[in-house]
This record gives sequence, C-alpha cells and structure tokens, in this order.
Amino acid sequence: MNKKVLLTGIKPTAVPHLGNYFGAIKPALSLVSNGDYDARLFIADYHSINTIRDPELLRQYVYEVAATWLSCGLDPEKVLLYRQSSVPETLELNIILNAFTAKGLMNRAHAYKAAVDRNREKDNPDDHGINMGLYTYPILMAADILLFDANYVPVGKDQVQHVEMACDIAQAINHNYGKELLTIPEYIIDEETQLVVGMDGRKMSKSYGNSIELFLKEKPLKKTLNKIVTNSQEIEEPKDPDTCNVFALYKLFATKEQQNELAAKYRAGGMGWGHAKSELFEVVNAELQPIRDKYYDLMDNKDYIDEVLKKGAEKARNIAAQKILLMRKAIGID
Ligand code: TRP
Repeated sequence: MNKKVLLTGIKPTAVPHLGNYFGAIKPALSLVSNGDYDARLFIADYHSINTIRDPELLRQYVYEVAATWLSCGLDPEKVLLYRQSSVPETLELNIILNAFTAKGLMNRAHAYKAAVDRNREKDNPDDHGINMGLYTYPILMAADILLFDANYVPVGKDQVQHVEMACDIAQAINHNYGKELLTIPEYIIDEETQLVVGMDGRKMSKSYGNSIELFLKEKPLKKTLNKIVTNSQEIEEPKDPDTCNVFALYKLFATKEQQNELAAKYRAGGMGWGHAKSELFEVVNAELQPIRDKYYDLMDNKDYIDEVLKKGAEKARNIAAQKILLMRKAIGID
C-alpha cells in the first residue's frame, strides 16, 4: 500500500514560543505521527540565510529546531527528518523550476510585495534591501515540495500562496513535457489551531515582543508569566476570566475542571492576579517540564542529533536522486 506523502519544512530563524507550539508544532506533529502518511519534515536552512548571516547562530538554530521537534515527540524512525541543505538535488530542481517560473508570478508573492510596500512607506527605492533569496523564495520552496512528490503540505496561512505557486510551476512543467512528471501538491491548514494570546493580549508573535518562549527554565518562566498584562482590579473585586490574558493562556494547558475551578475563583472575588499567575505557572510547567528536560538533554547531546540528521539525509537523498534522474531525462539533460 502506498501511503500519500506529507511534507513540511521549518525555517530555523528564531527560538520557538508558545504560539508556535500550539499553532504549528503540535498540529503538525499530530498529522505526521498518525501513521496515515509517508511523513517528511525538514529544516529549511537554505531559506534561513536570506535573513540569518551569522554562521554560529544558524548552526545553533538548526540544532534548536531538531531538538524542539524531537523533544515534542517526533519519532525519527517514523518521520523522515532531514536538513534541506543535505539534499543538494533540491538546488538542481530549483534551477529547472526557475526556467518555468514567470517573473510576474514572483512579483505577486506576498512576502516580496510586503517588503516593497515597506520601502515605499519609507520613500526608499522599491527593491531596497531585498535580496534574490527573498524574491525567489517560493521557487526554492516549490523545489522542496516537488522533489519529494508531496501530496499534502501542512502550512500556516502565510505560506498558502507559496504552495499554490508550487502547483502553478509544476503544472507548467507537466504541461510542457506532456506528462505527470511532478505531483501537484495540496496545502493543509489546520483551521482548529487555537489563537494564542501574548503577554499583552495581542496575538503571540516574536515581532510584537509579547511571546513566551517554549523552553524557558522554571525561574525565567515564572518571571515571564508574572509579567502578563492584567487590569488594575483590586484583590476583593470579582474578575472576568473571559477577558483576561492569564486565563486565556490557562485554558490552553488546563483540564476543563481546572478551568471551571479557576473561573469560579475569578468570579467570586478575593483572588489577586498573583494567585492567578501562580496557578497558570503550575499548569504550564506541568506540561512543559518533560519536554524541556528532553530538549536540554538533546542540546547537550548534539552527536545524537547529528546522527538522526545524517540518517535522515541519506534516506532523503536516495529519494531525491531518483527524482532528479527522472527530471533530467525528461528535459533532455542526461
Ligand atoms: N516557508 C516555510 C515557512 O517559512 C518553510 C518552508 C520552506 C516550507 N520550504 C517549505 C514549508 C516547503 C512547507 C514546504 O514556514
């Protein structure tokens, strides 16, 4: 029985926070781990160099991404885990895709357009500070996807357009050569992922500076949770759980009973914010502690991570090499 291929990439560019955990990591893990798919997950390190120019930092982020997924439950025996850069066939396919990608298609990519808009706001020339890596980002991403004949690509909303572009490019190639050389991928977005509020009540995002890192150790975690913005109600006053940032986060970690209990304390009055925050700490810490312990163990044992990635690279290259042979033959470069 041939399972459908499910593939996704993670760009190593920042330390993961709770928004990533609930919005991306957990949903992707439940998809790749359910056994229904031939699942592949890779670390998109070539995509990162568009913005990350410090080699040590990039190395560090790559380890962090691998350790994050492994500690959150990814089983490398069941899910193929590899680095994009371990599969140079990606770059060969990238060149082929370039030839079939309309420049105008790239002009319409959201990330590029947003960068141009920012330049216009500041009265800079349109392409100021924009590198070709950003401009052609969707082509490299298409290569990642098409090289592995991915049927399904789980992504965040901001990446949907890129998967659609991969379809466009694949169709142009299939049309030209008159056969189904490349599998047309479909994106999957998890509609049910909860919105995670940040410390100030806006959506949790690194760029808002309101995020809570996933692997904070106990003390800094406590300190960070204590800084969550609340209103200035006095201890005696009854409080509304439904408009409270502390409670919004509590809900993500607590059981229904725990939620009802804390909500009752809010409404009864006599509970201060310090108390609500320490209850929050308890549930957050209970869920994250085992993951965090595993994470720091892995980060102390990079040889293990190297080994996992090496094994993954071998398998991935095998698949990729066959695909590239096929492509070369089809286009007349063999
Ligand atoms: N662009 C994706 C992101 O920023 C990462 C990525 C790179 C990716 N290549 C991919 C995702 C291929 C899915 C498939 O999140």
